[in-house]
Amino acid sequence: MLILGIETSCDETAVSVVGASGPVEEPAFKLLGSTLMSQMKLHEKYGGVHPNLAKREHIKNLPIVLEKVLKESGVEMGEIDKIAVTVGPGLEPALWTGINFAQDLSKKYDIPVIPTNHMEGHMASVLLDENLRRTLADLPEQAQRSPLSFPALALLISGGHTELVYLKSWKEKEIVGETKDDAVGEAFDKVARMLGLSYPGGPEISKLAEKARELRVMNYEVRFPRPMIHSGDLNFSFSGLKTAVLYFLRKVPDLNEGIKMEVAREFEDAVVEVLTFKSRQAILKYNPGTFIIGGGVIANKKIRESFQKLNGEFPDLILRIPERELATDNAVMIAMAGYLSHISGVNSKMELKARGNLKYS
Ligand code: KG4
Ligand code: ZN
Repeated sequence: MLILGIETSCDETAVSVVGASGPVEEPAFKLLGSTLMSQMKLHEKYGGVHPNLAKREHIKNLPIVLEKVLKESGVEMGEIDKIAVTVGPGLEPALWTGINFAQDLSKKYDIPVIPTNHMEGHMASVLLDENLRRTLADLPEQAQRSPLSFPALALLISGGHTELVYLKSWKEKEIVGETKDDAVGEAFDKVARMLGLSYPGGPEISKLAEKARELRVMNYEVRFPRPMIHSGDLNFSFSGLKTAVLYFLRKVPDLNEGIKMEVAREFEDAVVEVLTFKSRQAILKYNPGTFIIGGGVIANKKIRESFQKLNGEFPDLILRIPERELATDNAVMIAMAGYLSHISGVNSKMELKARGNLKYS
């Protein structure tokens, strides 16, 4: 089945063409084309995404991105079997642009639309194997197989979400822990702003923190809290950590490069410690077959390494992390999630409209 994926929930206009087959436990995906236009530079001056500006840009970019992806994949619209489009969660004006675009294509070419949950997209992002993708040109007939073993646990860490989700199956999902305030990506972005770094802040903080570790910058006493680490549940909080950084910076007379590096490193260490601690608790409690991590923050090198280390404590657990390119928003994950939802009947009766706060059905 050929799926056209469309993603416009935030500041990326993304369209993909993905070949999909097989059952939910062992889906086979083949990436035919993926194009993405980022609006990051436009939103930078606001320190975040401006919804109406995002809407305008998506409307402008969608036809361009579609044309490019069809060309790249060598597929014509008439050959597409389903259109998977993000309906939420996200910024509603931005979501509507993708939905309207999908609906127009659906009418014009008589193709059914699968309303797709962005967070399920992040879960599905782990299903494309990097090595196979790289050699795909040499192995055009070879589909990419990556089994999912249920029950699974998913840790989703993005700019808008931080949650632990228990998946009894692809159809039955339950949030078992979530942030009580800021999302972890949001904390990265806000701390980056305090340090005078550009948006999005995650990659900037990560670079500085890495530099601090490399150079062993340890000349300033910086220590931040690990919020809610001993709360006894699987919930998170990152607003206190962000405030601790703010208070610390207020006391610093001269915010030089050395201190910035150290703040970035200690902030990242605090995030890593909380995320891995809570994940360990969740794994012990739910004993999943697969541990999935999704969302832009898992592009972070230190966090990836820490979870690989955590995996060493659970030799039977299959850890699935997306390749870095698929960690941040893209339409490949939307096509894959759309396929899984379609074959398992998730969201099949969902009305096609934008839902800013969409949860799991
Ligand atoms: O999943 P995503 O692309 O968009 C949402 O659905 O929110 O996640 C974006 C978030 C931003 O907050 C960004 O700062 C963060 O992911 N991010 C990172 C890194 N790359 C992106 N955070 C930490 N380290 C990174 N390398
Ligand atoms: Zn996302």
